[in-house]
Amino acid sequence: MCAFVKGEPSVRVSVVGLGYVGLVTSACLAEQGHDVVGIEVSSARIEALLDGRMPFHEPGLAELVQANREVGRLTFTADPAAISQADVVFVAVGTHDGNGGWQTRTIQSCLNDIVPRLADDAALVIRSTLPPWFLAHLPIIVGRMRQEAGLGEVPVLLNPEFTKEGTAVQDFLEPERVVLGIAHDVDGRGAARLRRLYRGMSAPILEMSATDAALSKLGANLFLATKISFANELAQLCDQYGGNVDQVVGAMAYDHRIGGAFLRAGIGFGGSCLPHQVTMTVATAAKSGLPTPLFAAVAEVNLRQRERMIDRLAGLLGGSVAGARIALLGVTFKPDTDDLRDAPSIHIATRLIEEGATVVAFDPMTNALERFAALVPGVRVASSVEIALDDADAAALVTEWGVFRQLDWVDAASRMRRAIMVDGRNALSVVELVDAGFAYASFGRGIRGQTDVPVTAPLVTAVEAEATGAPTSHETPAIDASATEGSPSERHRSGTSDLDLALTD
Ligand code: UDX
Repeated sequence: MCAFVKGEPSVRVSVVGLGYVGLVTSACLAEQGHDVVGIEVSSARIEALLDGRMPFHEPGLAELVQANREVGRLTFTADPAAISQADVVFVAVGTHDGNGGWQTRTIQSCLNDIVPRLADDAALVIRSTLPPWFLAHLPIIVGRMRQEAGLGEVPVLLNPEFTKEGTAVQDFLEPERVVLGIAHDVDGRGAARLRRLYRGMSAPILEMSATDAALSKLGANLFLATKISFANELAQLCDQYGGNVDQVVGAMAYDHRIGGAFLRAGIGFGGSCLPHQVTMTVATAAKSGLPTPLFAAVAEVNLRQRERMIDRLAGLLGGSVAGARIALLGVTFKPDTDDLRDAPSIHIATRLIEEGATVVAFDPMTNALERFAALVPGVRVASSVEIALDDADAAALVTEWGVFRQLDWVDAASRMRRAIMVDGRNALSVVELVDAGFAYASFGRGIRGQTDVPVTAPLVTAVEAEATGAPTSHETPAIDASATEGSPSERHRSGTSDLDLALTD
């Protein structure tokens, strides 16, 4: 927990760049009692903020911004001169090039603007995620700028954020750790200033080199991405052998060395952080002659999952999606955000349309749906989930918004031409969907429900067949339409074999 320490003077903070990271940082530091000035060069964004409009959706942020503006702890301006009053200046500008690569033009031009304006005793803190190769240059660039302006040196630190979209406010106010990376801090003044800023936090404050700080952020994201791709590979094994990934992961999670978080199988990870950091790590390391095959495989598995969604839809539709009308449920990369950056929905809708399907998308975030329509030529958008489902041959759950989890599935089935659901997030209840009459496929949980479409069963080699007494692949029956949810042993008891329920792509 974090609390403002009564009686302690507040720290004067400037935050340069009011995108996702910068605005959350500004509002949360103001909430902790500091005096914060947010600086933004985009005139549209600053006008929106001054007008009381939020530039993106993040639960709880609008309320925090409004409350702190009202008491005067948070102000916004377009004028970089405001930073000259600050004890701590955060830089939170973008470092993505928009094509899966890094760019440092924005941060370099931002440094040009602000470094000569920093007060002599201010600390410069980089909150943006930096490319690892830029770290060594950072203190040199800042030192040179100060020297050219005839000014004394300032401490330069990294303070990476570990916030998740959808819970960013809580992640900031109640962090699990605060990482301080020292790029240049001769007398320890910068670190002391940041410790004062974060004095109300009960989380451990970890001080390390700037390189270690950047790698600790990168390492966390690579590990999370690896867990998701691991779960997706494991789900494949479950489908192959008739297992249920929920049961399997549930049992694994009891081992404290493993845990259960970030092991949900499905169409894989999207967003601004995980996909970009995995692919950029592989590409940047390769440029310096360092192979990273594990991370390359994490990216490959992730992209494969998006294609699996198409395969599953095609499988349930009789081999092809051509001519089918598909309701795409959700477009944002996860619930509780309006962010479309590297959202799997874009790949999936584009590929379905290429294959000859009609895609009708719905998402509770109207503005995200409008941007989605501009990003995916040929996609149709619906103003309600019911309209998206009307006359659909199949539905594809892409984002597990609460509104989809709570749908009346009997009503949904009655609206559709064919009650087929591919759940890309393993988020729906198999029993509920099957009871409502759906043919239902997810990832690592087999195919269930009524389907007149023969589904390819796993290949069982003659050797395996001999050893287990299972039928060989050409003898394997099509999916059992009456299959019910349950563990493999329960299914055996009900007379349904694992092979009946298994799925291969
Ligand atoms: C991530 C990191 O979690 C965060 O620490 C970092 O600071 C920024 O990047 P974010 O991109 O907001 O946060 O989303 P996150 O909750 O990590 O989800 C990323 C993607 O992985 C989503 O598309 C989500 O649907 C997917 N995911 C997550 C899975 O497919 N399976 C899981 O088990 C968990």
